[in-house]
Amino acid sequence: MVPFLDLKQQYLGIREEIIEAVTRTLDSGAFILGPEVAAFEEEFRVFTGTEYVIGTSSGTTALQLALLSMGIQPGDEVITVPHTFVATVAAILYVGAKPVLVDIDPKTYTLDPEKVRAAITPKTRCIMPVHLYGQVADMDPILDIANEFGLVILEDAAQAHAATYKGRKAGSLGNSAGFSFYPGKNLGACGEGGAIATNDPEVARKARMLRDWGQEKKYHHEVVGFNARLEAVQAAVLRVKLNYLAGWTANRRAVATRYANELTGLNHVTLPKVAEYGEHSFHIYPVLVKDRPGFMSYLQEQGVGSGIHYPFAVHQLNGYKHLGYLDGDFPEAERVAAQCVSLPMFPEMTSEMVDKVVVAVRAYDQSQG
Ligand SMILES: Cc1ncc(COP(=O)(O)O)c(C=O)c1O
Repeated sequence: MVPFLDLKQQYLGIREEIIEAVTRTLDSGAFILGPEVAAFEEEFRVFTGTEYVIGTSSGTTALQLALLSMGIQPGDEVITVPHTFVATVAAILYVGAKPVLVDIDPKTYTLDPEKVRAAITPKTRCIMPVHLYGQVADMDPILDIANEFGLVILEDAAQAHAATYKGRKAGSLGNSAGFSFYPGKNLGACGEGGAIATNDPEVARKARMLRDWGQEKKYHHEVVGFNARLEAVQAAVLRVKLNYLAGWTANRRAVATRYANELTGLNHVTLPKVAEYGEHSFHIYPVLVKDRPGFMSYLQEQGVGSGIHYPFAVHQLNGYKHLGYLDGDFPEAERVAAQCVSLPMFPEMTSEMVDKVVVAVRAYDQSQG
């Protein structure tokens, strides 16, 4: 069986180092924030090419605190996409702002810059592109619009560690960015974790305060903050894994290159397009098929696992119907949500595993005529 994802394989490959790092941290007695978190923040700051990194308890709290730190308030409008994990939209709702959805580009599956302008109102304060699947949104036109209208940009880089746009790292392109270290992410903790990256010292100062009960000095609570701190053990694990991230990303890209080369000319399976402006980090390798259940069960019979990211656009979900959008409002997001299937993609995939996926996908395509 080729699994969709194999986290245990990755862990076993670096087990000694992880155990050493976790033991060192536990022995230190500093369990939350402290030197491990500070060291990870510095190393991830260098990795992303930003001025400040603030570790948080999850990717969701990173987005929420980034919005608050940039001054987003109840009643403000934040533009984002309907084709994403719900956390993007939930973070906007958590700060009392209004999510305004804009359809995705049919080629990159990320925010379509051409559709942003029409969604801007006097209440718009922020644009939140999502670098979905590990592909950075087309940032230059988005930055131009933000400059023109005086808006801030929060990158949802939860899936895009190590992805680039015109030579610059995801997370370094807007006013701030949120990363997730959920275990299945390209850089994943052994539990929950996230980070805010920014070049703005004031955003960094506020985010640091907000994640730790609104205090800059112990017991001097300047604002009503949150318990949204990164745990030391997670930081220790992330420091080990960060050393491997470039190599793991190269492996993902090599798998994607094989898929792209060996799955050409199919009639019933559409491969993802990689924009010329950047380097994809292939958190997910999504293909589109008309008969998703048929395709997935065919793969399963051939011993190939798969996933769906994500089966519904956010506005189609019961918890988000109150946003007031209807089926049909975002044709591209709805089409991708209805047809996407994620092929196996992880750095430890062997050549034989890729062979097996390629054979199964080609055979499915032929069986459809
Ligand atoms: C696009 C996107 N945004 C935000 C999040 C939230 O991150 P977390 O699960 O760490 O809270 C995730 C991952 O779950 C995600 O994929």
